[in-house]
Amino acid sequence: MSRRISYDGMNFVPYIENERISARIKELGRKISSDYAGRRPLVLCVLNGAFPFAADLFRAIEIDAEIAFIKLSSYQGTQSTGVVKKVMAATQSVANRDVIIVEDIVDTGRTIVNLIDELGKDNPKSLAVATLLFKPEALQQDFKPDYVGFEIPKKFIIGFGLDLDGLARNLPDIWVLENDKC
Ligand code: IMP
Ligand code: MG
Repeated sequence: MSRRISYDGMNFVPYIENERISARIKELGRKISSDYAGRRPLVLCVLNGAFPFAADLFRAIEIDAEIAFIKLSSYQGTQSTGVVKKVMAATQSVANRDVIIVEDIVDTGRTIVNLIDELGKDNPKSLAVATLLFKPEALQQDFKPDYVGFEIPKKFIIGFGLDLDGLARNLPDIWVLENDKC
C-alpha cells in the first residue's frame, strides 16, 4: 500500500525518509568539523525553511561553532517568484567570520546568489554554503554549493522544513509532488 498525503488538493508521496536525512546530516557535520578544524564557523540559518536542517547540522558539528539567523522569502505556492526579499537582517555580524550559510534547498539559485552578494558586502573572512537539497537541473546561476545533502531532480518537494504556502514544514520525512511534470 502506498502512503500519500494531500495539501491544497495536491498529492505527495514519500521521497526521502527521516532516517536517511539524519544519517546524511551527520556525515555533513563530520565533514564540516574536519574542514573547519581550528576555526570557529558562524552557521547562518536561512529562515524559515532551513531551521530543521540547521538544528540537526549544528548539533552534528563537533568543533566550536556559533549560530545566527537571517530571513529571506522568494516562493509563492510551487513556483519561485524570482523576487528575493530580505525580511530580517542577520542576527549577528558576519564581518571577519568564517560563515557557513545553511539553506533548505537550492533551486534556481537566485536566493543563494543574492544572499552571497549581500553578505559579501559585510566582509566575511570566508563564505560557504551547505544545502540539504540541490536541484542542479533548475540552476540558473553560476554557483555550486560546498556541502549538499541530496541532489534531486527538478520536482516540487515538501517536509523537513520545506513548505507549501507555510504548511508541511513539520513533516519528519521529505515528500514529492505526485506526477510532477516540472
Ligand atoms: P531559488 O532562489 O529558486 O534557488 O529558491 C530557493 C528557495 O525556494 C528555497 O529556499 C525554498 O524556500 C524554495 N523552494 C525551492 N524549491 C522548493 C521545493 O521543491 N519545495 C519547497 N520550497 C522550494
Ligand atoms: Mg527557503
